[in-house]
Amino acid sequence: METKTLRLTLINWRADFLPGQFVQLLLPGVGEAPFCITSSPSDPKHIELTILRRGLVTTASQYIRPGDAVGIRGPLGRPFPLDRFHGRDVLLVATGIGIAALRSLILYILENRKKFKEVTLLYGARFPEDLVYRDEIKSWAEHVKVMVTLSKATEQWSGLRGRVTDHLKEVSLHKDLVAVVCGSPAVMESITNELIKYGLSSENIYVSLERHMKCGIGKCARCLIPGGLLVCKDGPVFSASEISIKAIGE
Ligand SMILES: Cc1cc2nc3c(=O)[nH]c(=O)nc-3n(C[C@H](O)[C@H](O)[C@H](O)COP(=O)(O)OP(=O)(O)OC[C@H]3O[C@@H](n4cnc5c(N)ncnc54)[C@H](O)[C@@H]3O)c2cc1C
Ligand code: FES
Repeated sequence: METKTLRLTLINWRADFLPGQFVQLLLPGVGEAPFCITSSPSDPKHIELTILRRGLVTTASQYIRPGDAVGIRGPLGRPFPLDRFHGRDVLLVATGIGIAALRSLILYILENRKKFKEVTLLYGARFPEDLVYRDEIKSWAEHVKVMVTLSKATEQWSGLRGRVTDHLKEVSLHKDLVAVVCGSPAVMESITNELIKYGLSSENIYVSLERHMKCGIGKCARCLIPGGLLVCKDGPVFSASEISIKAIGE
């Protein structure tokens, strides 16, 4: 997986954002694309984006160098409902680049650790080289429980093996726990179904959806999902009770 984290310094404005929100990154002469803000909301003068190379904008973003100017529209979208997470056990499940959608929330949790009870991060990737924030995760593990599993582990890998769903049974799951799931649509659908089987209520399971976007502000309907909701404005964060679980996987 080819990923790069950009740290953008905001000139003459501050972005007051909350974990779960995104921005539209505008690269002059190339185009615009939405990306989750991955940095901590305690620093509104900078924004970090972790970008997986896919097409035009994401490839061009890999060539941004210190001093280059880029455009940002945002912060956009509905953040994670932090008030609903305070005082509770929290399970964060990420696969692949889905960890980018969780990083700002993780940093917020680390900076406000006393507001949360037990916090577990279950993160799955395929190969060791696919792991994003590999060094940083070690420092997260000093404050929250971290489980990293690889589905295509090499012999040298001494950590967990298999998919994240293979390890859900090792987490203390109970109906008052809040879970946040980020990854590819199919994986989010299957993890959500598993968590419901383990007794979690759909109201306590949150996902961050990715859909093709144009305006990013609820005007063009490009990001419409079943139920008449717009991912850019009503989301990207939804509880699994607000949308059909099938819609998560589409
Ligand atoms: C709210 C939101 C938050 C996002 N956060 C992040 C993030 O933090 N990090 C990140 O790397 N990406 C994120 N994405 C996905 C990112 O926006 C897309 O990868 C990007 O728009 C692709 O633009 P491009 O010009 O490089 O690709 P294009 O040239 O437009 O497309 C290249 C190929 O990639 C496919 N593609 C485009 N978007 C997606 C997608 N979302 N999923 C799967 N395939 C796609 C296209 O169908 C096409 O086949 C997010 C998307 C949304 C809606
Ligand atoms: S991107 Fe235009 S309405 Fe969502």
